[in-house]
Amino acid sequence: MRKVHILGSGGREHAIGWAFRRCGFEVHYYPGNAGTAKDGVNHSYDGLETVKRIEEGLVIPGSERYLVDGVANVSEMVFGPKAEVARLEGSKVFAKEFMKRHGIRTARFEVVHSPEELPDKLRSFSPPYVLKADGLAGGKGVLILKDVNEAIEKGSKLISGELLKGVKGPLVIDEFLKGEELSAMALINGSDFVLLPFVRDYKKLRDGDGGPNTGGMGSWGPVEVPAKTVEAIEELVHRTLWALDREGYTYRGFLYLGLMLVDGEPFILEYNVRLGDPETEVVVLLDPEGFVDNILKAFEGSKMGEFNPRGYAVDVVLASEGYPDSPRKGQEITMPEEGLYFFAGVSQVNGKLVVSGGRVIHSMGAGKTKDEARKNAYLNAEKVEFPGKYYRRDIAL
Ligand code: AMP
Ligand code: GLY
Repeated sequence: MRKVHILGSGGREHAIGWAFRRCGFEVHYYPGNAGTAKDGVNHSYDGLETVKRIEEGLVIPGSERYLVDGVANVSEMVFGPKAEVARLEGSKVFAKEFMKRHGIRTARFEVVHSPEELPDKLRSFSPPYVLKADGLAGGKGVLILKDVNEAIEKGSKLISGELLKGVKGPLVIDEFLKGEELSAMALINGSDFVLLPFVRDYKKLRDGDGGPNTGGMGSWGPVEVPAKTVEAIEELVHRTLWALDREGYTYRGFLYLGLMLVDGEPFILEYNVRLGDPETEVVVLLDPEGFVDNILKAFEGSKMGEFNPRGYAVDVVLASEGYPDSPRKGQEITMPEEGLYFFAGVSQVNGKLVVSGGRVIHSMGAGKTKDEARKNAYLNAEKVEFPGKYYRRDIAL
């Protein structure tokens, strides 16, 4: 039987594994979680050594960390770029300078290496000031500040390492772009690519987009995007692949563009070298066969086909109270044996399923219409019980 090996432990990784299992694959997770064990086999993950030991099958990294660490440098079986190219996500300075070199549309920017340069460089921008840490910062690396003095203070601390644990070094000042955000995900093999269905995600903790940013509280798709915008996005992917080729890099894997549409024109805010979470959960539900088939084609170097989303899919994230800062953990979960769920922060303790992370379970719903999919996702959400369960009520409304 054909095998797939998935690196990671969240809902995105479970969703990828679920799709491959449906398509007849033997699925292995490194490390996975107590829920992924229902759709495959969990193994420990001990860094690059684990990947080197895999002898047969396709290796799919869920998070960018694996790629930045170089899993694609140690194994030919990895679906994803080598560490040098994963810097598109791992280093904002690298990504912005890459886009500038090749005329790929992004916000005007300056790179700042020391606190002393900050006041002068900030002066060439008008508020609000957008400051971006260079390295991976777990979604906390972008600050948007109205006051120039605050920007100097926080920016200095970002550079010196006093602001965010484990994050120090240069930063990027970006011109603030006003517009509508949109994400696009593509499957890439060299110069060939196909866009995945568009999915809307909800980053804020509370209904009506209030409260702090999170890893994502839900999602739905497919979202209709005007043909003109799709063309412009395809052009940005084309240019990116052309630029990578010119610099001597080959890219095979997922590419995720974080975009700002300014009067309908897309600007790239960021590149990610992986799929989104919770976008992937929706994409696999819309077309699991197309998802798997196109990954295999991209991997093997044959021409990819279009996706055929069937109806609509909705993901309602069940989080634990205190998320995102300090989620409550250890509560027992009761839920149906069957049902459409992708698991994230769950563990098995003494034979019981317990909460072990902030985003606990992705409650999924599918349907012919968005409303039907939404209703199903919320019906499933109500069937899961654990103390401190929290979820948004307005996903896909
Ligand atoms: P990034 O990690 O670069 O995608 O930035 C995280 C978030 O910060 C984005 O999703 C936007 O909401 C916001 N952001 C980043 N860059 C800009 C910009 N140049 N103008 C306005 N908002 C931005
Ligand atoms: N849902 C946003 C991301 O995965 O980056």
